[in-house]
Amino acid sequence: MNPVSNSKSPRPLLAVLSGQTLRSVPVWFMRQAGRYLPEYKATRAAAGSFLDLCYNPELAAEVTLQPIRRFGFDAAILFSDILVVPDALGMTVQYKEGEGPVLDPLTSRAAIDALATERVAEHLAPVYRAAAQVARALPPTCGLIGFAGGPWTVAAYMIEGHGGGEFHALVRMAYRDPDTLAALFRKLIDATVTHLVSQVQAGAVALQLFDTWAGIAAEPLFRRWCIAPVAEIVQRVNAACPGVPIIGFPKGAGASLARYVKETGINGVGLDPAVPLDWAARTIQLHVAVQGNLDPQLLVAGGPAMLAEADRILDTLANGPHIFNLGHGIRQETPPDHVAELVNHIRTRGLGPVRSNHP
Ligand code: CP3
Repeated sequence: MNPVSNSKSPRPLLAVLSGQTLRSVPVWFMRQAGRYLPEYKATRAAAGSFLDLCYNPELAAEVTLQPIRRFGFDAAILFSDILVVPDALGMTVQYKEGEGPVLDPLTSRAAIDALATERVAEHLAPVYRAAAQVARALPPTCGLIGFAGGPWTVAAYMIEGHGGGEFHALVRMAYRDPDTLAALFRKLIDATVTHLVSQVQAGAVALQLFDTWAGIAAEPLFRRWCIAPVAEIVQRVNAACPGVPIIGFPKGAGASLARYVKETGINGVGLDPAVPLDWAARTIQLHVAVQGNLDPQLLVAGGPAMLAEADRILDTLANGPHIFNLGHGIRQETPPDHVAELVNHIRTRGLGPVRSNHP
């Protein structure tokens, strides 16, 4: 791993993802655009439905930029959703107030065969227009992150039809009918590669794969349905977009994180709040940049406990490449003042000498 540097790279995010250890770590938060911000709620109300907002380039660009203006994050994440991919494949996706996403679940091989991968880029063209607008508007130090869901997590919604449970239908299909699930994954992998490459062509400088439900996969399932598909996606995106780093976020993967990092070829990995940081510093961070992992509930709570935990995270991960983030997305009830206080704390602390708990 490269030594600590005060890199003058215009984008600290990319410096860290290339393996550099920075004194002043880059910071952004998953779901940094969203309902905890009054300006988001106003734009969302003007847009109509949630998908109308995702497919309106001007308004999607606007909500992507709102948290950048307010907090000066080092990365913008394109405002969209992981379920635009099933929508582009021809499924009906709806977002119901207080219920989350609802889809007509895929229950047969025929329904999977009917999904059309050919029109994904065309269907998602408004998303790429939003990305291009954001890329033009960002300050030079701030990088645009494009994203997609991991196929396992996206398949979970496609097969179950909704969230809120443990996705039994997906897990049972993985055991009872792996050939049918593999047919769905072929289409999802193709669509995901197209979607990620298109975001880079529009101006994204880094990518993240959200595998939010990795933790429901037993270890053999995790290897086949989380690691292998992500490895294929990374290989194909790397071939099409050399030098564009990819962050994996297999939430709840536990000790399987080590294998995930080794076998997928990702450049950075998101740590959920349950990952022991001393372990991550000794193992994961020797190979890739780590991103995380403040508990989003601590950002709701705020105060000295939040700042002390931020210090613990920064100290424990100080000897390797680290991007400060949450361990999962910002919660809706988060006071924006807590976000401002935390970002300010990380920034001003970064100006001092490196403190380290490493032996
Ligand atoms: O700021 C950002 O991080 C970019 C935008 C973003 C959204 N969704 C916007 C959104 C990102 C990166 C996502 C990813 C996403 N979407 C994931 C993976 C990460 C995670 O949070 O677990 C998942 C599982 C989804 C699917 C999804 N979309 C769910 C389960 C929900 C309902 C839950 C909720 O928070 O309401 C959504 C809707 C959604 N996606 C909202 C936002 C801002 C809220 C919708 C609204 O404004 O009404």
